[in-house]
Amino acid sequence: MVYINVAVCLSVLLLMIGLSVGLSVNTFKGRDVLNSVPLIDGHNDLPENLYEKLSNNLSGFHFEDDLSNDDAWGRTACPVCHTDLHRLIAGKVGGQFWVAYTGCESQYKDAVQRTLRQIDVIKRLIDRYPTNLQLVTVAADIETTWRNGRIASMIGIEGGQSLESSLAVLRLYYELGVRYMTLTHTCNTPWADASSVNDGSVYNLTEFGKKIVLEMNRIGMMVDLAHVSHNVMRDVLAVTRAPIIFSHSSAFSICQNYRNVPDDVLHSVKENKGIVMVNFYSGFVNCNSSRNATLQDVVDHINYIRNLIGVDYVGIGADYDGVNSLPVGLEDVSKYPDLFDRLYDSREGEPTWTKEDLEKLAGRNFIRVFQMVETASIKIIEDR
Ligand SMILES: *[C@@H]1O[C@H](CO)[C@@H](O)[C@H](O)[C@H]1NC(C)=O
Ligand SMILES: *[C@@H]1O[C@H](CO)[C@@H](O)[C@H](O)[C@H]1NC(C)=O
Ligand SMILES: *[C@@H]1O[C@H](CO)[C@@H](O)[C@H](O)[C@H]1NC(C)=O
Ligand SMILES: *[C@@H]1O[C@H](CO)[C@@H](O)[C@H](O)[C@H]1NC(C)=O
Ligand SMILES: [Zn+2]
Repeated sequence: MVYINVAVCLSVLLLMIGLSVGLSVNTFKGRDVLNSVPLIDGHNDLPENLYEKLSNNLSGFHFEDDLSNDDAWGRTACPVCHTDLHRLIAGKVGGQFWVAYTGCESQYKDAVQRTLRQIDVIKRLIDRYPTNLQLVTVAADIETTWRNGRIASMIGIEGGQSLESSLAVLRLYYELGVRYMTLTHTCNTPWADASSVNDGSVYNLTEFGKKIVLEMNRIGMMVDLAHVSHNVMRDVLAVTRAPIIFSHSSAFSICQNYRNVPDDVLHSVKENKGIVMVNFYSGFVNCNSSRNATLQDVVDHINYIRNLIGVDYVGIGADYDGVNSLPVGLEDVSKYPDLFDRLYDSREGEPTWTKEDLEKLAGRNFIRVFQMVETASIKIIEDR
């Protein structure tokens, strides 16, 4: 009798263990990796919308609310607005580059002042929400900030026009907390060509452009090759002494827009140990005008880059608040978890994404690049 009871108990126990193992395997979803690593997005243009809509006056801005149906910030009222704190939390965002952007119309005019105003509004936004946001300027603080429940908020500058060709201005931006600079926006600077002139490349990267890249390497500011011409991508990769980033660019082989990264450059990014953070903009992920972009298009770009150069050099840089059309399924900052679910649930012909792979895509790859840029800076300074 005792033996039978023990046997029954044992089999019930085994059954329960079996069930719970089975269940935990079956219930794992791609989005669950966003609990073990911060999801870091390389590019969000909310600060530009704060300038356009509020002249940077934050008093009446309710970032904490769900703004998706707001009269000023909602989907209907504002096709370029996709971000609020409510949806960032739903989207499990753990690290975000907020972009200090000033348009090409500011070049040779008020670009420095406009850039400073955008850095200022980013800092004021962070200060207004201290329980949810924290300024981060070193790679090691991203994960700890996120573990403390805050979005690691970093600053990038979009467009070399913000420098007005001054290395002093570049260094002072670093002092203010800026950790990447996109070398151009849609206009050429005096020292680097933009993607929009790709068909008639003018100067590529000039000698002074090389100096800027090397100075960025020295001070530890990441070089962002989104928006530059394909030849400037190649020129920079040939001279840089640290890994580069593409903060918001996708794959040229899938959609032939010059904002996207061609295959030879992707191979160089692998050698350079840099990262391509994939842009979600409909016009960059889908070049077929007879259909709308969907989440599947973004999956295809991510898988293309992974298949070509490996899982260590790809990340996410959606471009929310900077574009007016996004794929069905990725309409705003709350949607990232769906992308991770979909990648984990891979289809025939697609690579298999392990938990570790998804963690790399979400944040580990970017943190590695940021750390390597910091290390390269220390080494360059020591070697002098
Ligand atoms: C800023 O916005 C608030 C509320 O929307 C308004 O009351 C205030 O006058 C504005 N401040 C300036 C300097 O425009
Ligand atoms: C720009 O770079 C490309 C590729 O390296 C080269 O063929 C071209 O001659 C360069 N143009 C100028 C103006 O230097
Ligand atoms: C573009 O999309 C249409 C509609 O889905 C499809 O029939 C067509 O084959 C696509 N063209 C290309 C070149 O993929
Ligand atoms: C694309 O989406 C728009 C907006 O939702 C819709 O009006 C249009 O019919 C769609 N186009 C195609 C080809 O499905
Ligand atoms: Zn951009």
